[in-house]
Amino acid sequence: KVINVILTGGVGSRLWPLSRKSQPKQYLEIFEDKSLFQMTVERNSILTDDVMVVGNVDNCHLSKAVLNKSGLDYIDIVESTPRNTAAAIAFACFAADPDDVLIVTPSDHVIEGDASYKAAIELAVNKANEGAIVTFGIVPTKPETGYGYIEYANNDEVISFREKPNESTAKEFISKGNFLWNSGMFCFKAGVMLDELKDFTPEVYEKSKIAWDQNKEGKLDLALSMDIPSISIDYAVMERSQKIKVIPTQFNWSDLGSFDSVYDYLISKGHTTDADGNMVIGTDNFTAFLGLQNTIFVSTPTANLILHKEHAQKVKDVYVKLESEN
Ligand code: GDD
Ligand code: MG
Repeated sequence: KVINVILTGGVGSRLWPLSRKSQPKQYLEIFEDKSLFQMTVERNSILTDDVMVVGNVDNCHLSKAVLNKSGLDYIDIVESTPRNTAAAIAFACFAADPDDVLIVTPSDHVIEGDASYKAAIELAVNKANEGAIVTFGIVPTKPETGYGYIEYANNDEVISFREKPNESTAKEFISKGNFLWNSGMFCFKAGVMLDELKDFTPEVYEKSKIAWDQNKEGKLDLALSMDIPSISIDYAVMERSQKIKVIPTQFNWSDLGSFDSVYDYLISKGHTTDADGNMVIGTDNFTAFLGLQNTIFVSTPTANLILHKEHAQKVKDVYVKLESEN
């Protein structure tokens, strides 16, 4: 069987105030009245046999509403607390058969180009059946520090995987030319991934297994979950495994993770800025910017954000501060 595993654990804190704890960005109906979560479900469910959603207690009702609307049956895994992607992927693997091929996708990306997406997935499933852990590589356009980088050769061979390098390292990667961004989607056999996890991060494997074995109808126990080290699959497995392959992709991919990528995406869709590159998001009110360049004004009914595009990664700090005060 081929199963689409949708990871939907994050709140999208770098998109505050568009994104809130009660309304994470993947459920906002921002494109054609559809959420990114719904678009993920629709894109993948036609290419796979089953859908599995790994989310948390705070958002499982939002996932359910979308899947019910689409009339899709799905396997629901509910985390009591987020323990990062290594644990989330481990739960999905435990829930599947070792020979099932899992296509793990985030729920918050924009992907355009149905035919090339389908071709990439089909190729990935073939490679996964041969025992590979497949990543999907995106041609980088800037030395982004929020992504993983895949050094590759001969089309699908991976020389190294480097998660979130600092800026000077990212610049070095870009200038070398044989690096791709990691899209954050993965394809592998459940049993292959569990073997690698066991080898490289045994504590995550063991503690996730203990938590999984005690699950109640897919819901994980809080205390057992708190015991699992919080580490992403990129650090836990991708940087260390020898089984990694890459598919250089042809489809358009956009991780709307922070306001700088939202800004670039909106410009590509015809959203305008003023002559100094200032942009307004969320209101049609006339807005004037004086003495400012590349500033983004985000307006919502209950909170506003004004930021310089270069400070997009710092929005998380505002979110964290507000959370701690509430
Ligand atoms: N269920 C669950 N539980 N999902 C989670 C958890 C968790 O504890 N933590 C994160 N997720 C989900 C997020 O909602 C998102 O859909 C996906 O897993 C990836 O997590 P992010 O937090 O968005 O990761 P990232 O953006 O920093 O980095 C990853 O994606 C980049 C591309 O967007 C890495 O794979 C990078 O290498 C990659 O370049
Ligand atoms: Mg992300």
